[in-house]
Formats: sequence, C-alpha cells, structure tokens
Amino acid sequence: MSSSTPTIKLALLGAGNVGSQVARILLEDADSLQARIGARLELIGIAVRDLTAPRHYQADPQLYTTDAEALIDRADVVLELTGGIEPARSRILQALQAGKSVVSGNKALLAQHGSELAAAAAASGAQLSYEAAVGGAIPILRPLRDSLAGDRVSRVLGIVNGTTNYILDQMHSTGAQFDQALAEAQRLGYAEADPTADIEGHDAAAKAAILASLAFHSSFSLDQVRTEGITSISAEDVQAAEAEGYVIKLLAVCERQGDQVSLRVNPTLLPQSHPLASVRGAFNAVFVEAENAGELMFYGPGAGGAPTASAVLGDLVAIARRMVLGGPGLPDLPTEQLSLAGADQLASSYAVGMLAKDAPGTLSQIAQLFAEAGISIETIRQVKAPVAGGLALIRLVTHRVKDQTLRQTVQQLASLETVQEVTSLIQVEG
Ligand code: HSE
Repeated sequence: MSSSTPTIKLALLGAGNVGSQVARILLEDADSLQARIGARLELIGIAVRDLTAPRHYQADPQLYTTDAEALIDRADVVLELTGGIEPARSRILQALQAGKSVVSGNKALLAQHGSELAAAAAASGAQLSYEAAVGGAIPILRPLRDSLAGDRVSRVLGIVNGTTNYILDQMHSTGAQFDQALAEAQRLGYAEADPTADIEGHDAAAKAAILASLAFHSSFSLDQVRTEGITSISAEDVQAAEAEGYVIKLLAVCERQGDQVSLRVNPTLLPQSHPLASVRGAFNAVFVEAENAGELMFYGPGAGGAPTASAVLGDLVAIARRMVLGGPGLPDLPTEQLSLAGADQLASSYAVGMLAKDAPGTLSQIAQLFAEAGISIETIRQVKAPVAGGLALIRLVTHRVKDQTLRQTVQQLASLETVQEVTSLIQVEG
C-alpha cells in the first residue's frame, strides 16, 4: 500500500448472516476493493450483543465489541446490519449527525423513519444508502435514484418477498394447500419459525414504501401501504387461476397518476405472459414502467447472507469513492409533493369466486347484480358442478372497476338467495 493511500475506517454493527458475509468480503477482498476505490477500507470493529455467540464467519476476535456507540465514534463510515427499530435508529442518527455516512439494510427502519434519517444525512452532508433493504442482491434502489433520475417512473411492480413467492410457487407446481407449502418453506429455511411478517405482507409493504419513495422522489411510510397477505389463498384459487391463464403472486404495486400515488401489497392474478410470472421459487424481481425507458425488469436473489452483502458492498464502494473525491453525499430529500390516492379513487380488475346454487337463473341473478352496479364482467364460468348439496363453484373476472363499488357489490352478492358464499376475491393485474 502506498503511504499516500487514504484509509476509511469502518464500523460494522451486527454479525448475523449478512454482517458476517460483509466482514468476510471486506477482509478477503481488501486489495481489490482498495484498487477500485483509491482508499483502504479498514474494518475497525464489529458491534455485537453477545461476544460469545457462534458466528457464520469468525473475524479476528479482537474486532468484536459490545460498545456500539464508542465504535461509531472512531469510524468514518458505519454499516448497520442489525435490523429492528431501536437501537438501530439512534445509532444511525448518531453517525449521520456526526457527518459519518451510513450503509443500512434495515427495511423496517427505513420504511418507518426514512425521512428522519434522510434529513439527518442531508443536514450533515453524510450519505445514507440502503440498497440491501429491498431485493437482496438486486440493484434496484440506485437505478431508481440515479439511472432513472432523468425519467418519470409511473409504476413499480415488485415480487419483493422470497418466502411468499416460494410458497405460492409451491402451491402452483405441486397443488399444495397454503399450510403445506408454508411448512415446506419452513423446513427449507426460507420461512422463519414465526412467518407472520412475510405471509401477512408486512415485509413486502416496508419494501413498497422504500421503492415508492425513491421511484417518485417523495416520502412514503409503511403505514401508507394497503396490505394483504397470502394466508387466504387456497389450492382451489391457484387451480382456477391457472385455468384462466394466470399465476398468483404477492405483488407490491406502487402506482403514480398525476400527483397521486397508490401503494399496495396483495395477492394478485398475473397473466402467465407477464415477465414477473416467470419469477419462481424464492427469487425476487422488480418491474419498472417509466415514461421514456419503457418497461424494465430487475431480477435476482432477494435474500441470503452473501447476496445481501454484495448490495452492502456496492453502497460502501460508492460512498468511499465519493469520500476520496471529496464533497458531501447526495441528499435524498423529497423533491415532489405527492399525495396518497383516497380509497374512493382506487380501481382494478378483480376475480371473484363463489359457491352458488347449480340451478336455472343463478348466472342471470349474478350478472344482473353486477350490471346494476355498472360493473362489466370480462369472463364468467362454472368451475365444478355440483360441489355438494346442489352447489356449483362460479368464477368471474371483472373489467376495471372502482374498489369500493366492487366490494359493495360482493357484499350484496353474498346476500343473494342463490349465492351461498363468496369464496375468494383477488385483484387482477393487466
Ligand atoms: N423475509 C424476506 C423474504 C427476507 O422472504 O424475502 C429479505 O428481506
């Protein structure tokens, strides 16, 4: 190393799956990283809760400490890979307020306190980067922030949760019910022992808030994302979707119309021809529609220690290069004043499944109810007849309809004398 080569001191917070891989890459690839940056990256310490816990990768034991605050004080750049809101938020603020740039993979924190952290970074000229928070290894946040900064993004559709994509894919490929597919995902280590955050859509909703904030140069938080998980999806829904030319995916949809944005995460019927329909297993993908670029798709592993560490390292190299050149980090403050679309403005196509009497007049009663509500039906068919007790399973797909109108009509449908039960209601994309 030349004596004039500057050194950038790094504090790593967290030595879990991702933190361990970051430590490994920093130590194993130190020379090539130095060549790419023009500065030496020096890992000066790793803050952990328990010094004796087993590690995925064991760095020099001298590096580990339980005193995160003191470590941050000695560092130039902080890598926060602990997760959770506190103490991560306080530690990131401590670093940013002292002008130290931060790389984080903490989607929950960024989706809830992103604007506070961005303001702290902008105030001190520090950089805050968090590519690892969405889509694991997939470069998607920097493309939205930088590569597409000269374009106008109208929609972002994402498969941003690998666990639920694996479960739905299993249901499609094996015919399994949700519970069986979840158990398999847990057995293989995709789903956690408590899978709530994944299967109820909360993890994807945090990522949707982050994607929308960057795509639309605005600031959105987790509580602004209408969220529905996949627990009510049945093997029968999956079979019916396939027969109609769709796959069921848990999609994060961020959509801009004029100065209004709608944000949602929910199970969606996606035409089998859509590029996102081919995303199998635990992979992630983000599909972006922009005014001038057209349609773009970003695909790859959405989780895992080494893939997520790759995204952390990418952010770190970009920050370190900027430090070598001098000057403050890029502020990520909102530049557009956008509001959330009200519930009365949301519209989509829907697939509705119901158990109804297999008798003359049933279809016409159902069709009449939809006609009176001004809802146009695209397809309607009887799936199985009879199910039991003289009942048939009837499926219909609507044209685009206001959500409120559709939900009111579905309530009325359930009270028709010929309809025993509405068994499913799933949004349709495209
Ligand atoms: N639980 C997430 C998933 C991991 O299943 O995709 C990455 O955020």
